[in-house]
Amino acid sequence: MFIKTVRLNDFRSHKTISIEFERGINVLLGGNGTGKTNLLEAINYATRNFSNKTSNKKVLIRKGAECASIQLVVHKESFSFTIQKEITTTTKKNQNTAPQLCKVILFSPETTNIILGEPESRRNYLDQIISQYDFTYSDALQKFEKIIRQRNFLLKSLKKNYKSSVVDTLSVWNSRLAKYSENITAKRAKLVQLIEKYYSGIYNCVAKNNNTIKVKLLQSVRVNEEAEIVRELEENLEKDILLGFTTIGAQKDNLLIEVNEFSAKGNLSQGEIWTLAFTLVMVEHKIFTEKESSTMNFQEPVLLLDDVFLGIDQKRRQKVVEFIEGKGQVIITSADEREIPKNLKFNRINVKLDE
Ligand SMILES: Nc1ncnc2c1ncn2[C@@H]1O[C@H](COP(=O)(O)OP(=O)(O)OP(=O)(O)O)[C@@H](O)[C@H]1O
Ligand SMILES: [Mg+2]
Repeated sequence: MFIKTVRLNDFRSHKTISIEFERGINVLLGGNGTGKTNLLEAINYATRNFSNKTSNKKVLIRKGAECASIQLVVHKESFSFTIQKEITTTTKKNQNTAPQLCKVILFSPETTNIILGEPESRRNYLDQIISQYDFTYSDALQKFEKIIRQRNFLLKSLKKNYKSSVVDTLSVWNSRLAKYSENITAKRAKLVQLIEKYYSGIYNCVAKNNNTIKVKLLQSVRVNEEAEIVRELEENLEKDILLGFTTIGAQKDNLLIEVNEFSAKGNLSQGEIWTLAFTLVMVEHKIFTEKESSTMNFQEPVLLLDDVFLGIDQKRRQKVVEFIEGKGQVIITSADEREIPKNLKFNRINVKLDE
């Protein structure tokens, strides 16, 4: 499966643009601000139904225009199909059907935020992977978040005005919270085990080193059992009331990644942080292909790599080439052809500013 054509109307900086891709490695080349990243964002939006950069749909529409449209023509074996998305500020969320049709995996300079950002960004990384093969997960996650909001609301009201009737209501929320929390954390823990299996090998291959990598899911609850979580929620009640929010549960899970016992933030170099982020994406690719390869209509995901050669040394660039060769369709952006390793064979696509 590969994306043959991308057509945009009034998406970000593009008034109208139509680009033809090839099956293997494609490189979008153009100066800064010519709209290369916007093109990848459009592909990502059309296939995953959300932007990797913003939750504000308005900024996806070209300044001065009313609505934007994205059209992808996807080739699959002997037939082709079209994914069409219209973006207006008023339309409700589109039906999320595209991921089953066309799977993309994106690396961008912002991927380093998963490594450097708050625990939430790492939970999101885990959650979006799980949602792709476990169709009950998103729903459970939404229900869990609602329970947390309701429980926190009650905790805040107790902080202001302590009432034993409200404490009784809390115990109902505790058991519901524990049920979902246990389920979510267990699924995350299983995924983290899989990530751990691949992460060190890929990281050390790109970094050409023998670093000790630690990958672990940090949990706020000691045991993954509903009854134990309820017990700990009760134990922590006083503290939770004082703080006005729930201090234990899956909403506190965190993915820990350490290199030689160093956490990334404040300790590792730019290139090392880049390597940690690139490894996350390659691990996601590996897990997806492994899970899917046994299914009847397995489709290799399309890799979108935004500025993947920027800010890394030649050895690492060479490793990127080794990783992407033979991985189906790859779409890379670059503002400077000199950063692309000479041995990489690719379909060159020049991107220019709209006249
Ligand atoms: N809604 C919008 N309407 C018009 N222009 C927009 C909109 N959103 C973003 N832009 C413009 O799009 C341009 C950025 O495009 P993009 O990030 O795709 O560039 P790029 O080719 O990836 O550049 P670089 O090589 O620097 O990464 C900016 O000039 C920005 O102002
Ligand atoms: Mg860019």
